[in-house]
Amino acid sequence: MAKTVLVSGGAGYIGSHVTVELIGKGYEVVVADNMSNCDLTCFEGVKKITGRDDIPFHQIDCCDSEAVNRLFDEYKIDAVIHFAAFKAVGESVAEPLMYYRNNLVSFINILEAAKNKGGCNVLFSSSATVYGEAEVLPVTENTPRLPSTSPYGNTKQMCEDILRDVVFATAGNDGADGQGVVKGIALRYFNPIGAHPSALIGELPRGVPNNLVPFITQTAIGKRECLSIFGNDYPTEDGTCLRDYIDVVDLAKAHVAAVSRMVEGRMKEGYEIFNVGTGRPVSVYELVTAFENVNGLKLNYKFVDRRPGDVMAIWADTTLANEELGWKAERTVEETLASAWAWEKHLAEQK
Ligand code: WQD
Repeated sequence: MAKTVLVSGGAGYIGSHVTVELIGKGYEVVVADNMSNCDLTCFEGVKKITGRDDIPFHQIDCCDSEAVNRLFDEYKIDAVIHFAAFKAVGESVAEPLMYYRNNLVSFINILEAAKNKGGCNVLFSSSATVYGEAEVLPVTENTPRLPSTSPYGNTKQMCEDILRDVVFATAGNDGADGQGVVKGIALRYFNPIGAHPSALIGELPRGVPNNLVPFITQTAIGKRECLSIFGNDYPTEDGTCLRDYIDVVDLAKAHVAAVSRMVEGRMKEGYEIFNVGTGRPVSVYELVTAFENVNGLKLNYKFVDRRPGDVMAIWADTTLANEELGWKAERTVEETLASAWAWEKHLAEQK
């Protein structure tokens, strides 16, 4: 029988791509989303890509524990992928309580239901932000986490620890009173970019984008006048920051690999962590140039001061994910940037 995966935040950018890949591999998916940071565009796109009009969709807020419990009562859930969270670093500095309440309470509710409803596999969407400004690059999963510079980053670290503790505490549960075993995987994403090759789903930033690629595509289409490149005086080859840009479809496939590992009982520990990146550092300037070249256009950009809080360089050692998940990033950065541009043009055609 097909396994069922609950995807919280499943109507969002990464959640929608993961839903597509899960369905492609024969999983049943239940989507839960409070629609606080998206509309139905991506969910409609998911239905078109998969040809499935019957994907269960529940507009609930995971901070509502009763609503979460009801989902676990209604479906036999084999795994949960928890995306539902706020993700704007700057906003989290201005509104820390909002971030702590939302990101922690929603995850605690998911874990309580997972534990109390007979046990479940839980995949948490973590971030390379937990490494901060690492001294040794690339970072492995054993690279020490550094104190976070934002409440957003703190919530990622805290949720990782909460998951680890719940896995540890439930390991001996025997199902009495419904109390089951929780197993967990945290995937630490580097910089997710790009869109589905169909251009039917992609990133939909609200307002002025904080992230580089949506800012690039919005500048190219004329929604923004000029891209500001934050800093060209870093001690890197071209003076701009280095990141590990991971294609969102490749990232989605890593989730399917991790879910399969959990539901097929192939985990080596109750709680595991994997870096999900390409292992290739790319500078901001290289990315901008690659975008121009692959899409045959010129971007209006200027160099400005460094952005406070940015690390100079971070990229992943992906050996563990390659070996244990049998997963590897496949799309080239050019393919990914072409998909990001196709998505921006698709959005413009909808207007
Ligand atoms: C990438 C590079 C900027 C915008 C953040 C979060 C992380 C994760 C992803 C997600 C940096 C430069 C950017 C612009 C620029 N979280 N840049 N001009 O900061 O690496 O990671 O997003 O939900 O946790 O911290 O990503 O895309 O903002 O920046 O020059 O207009 O692009 O300085 O070097 P970042 P980013």
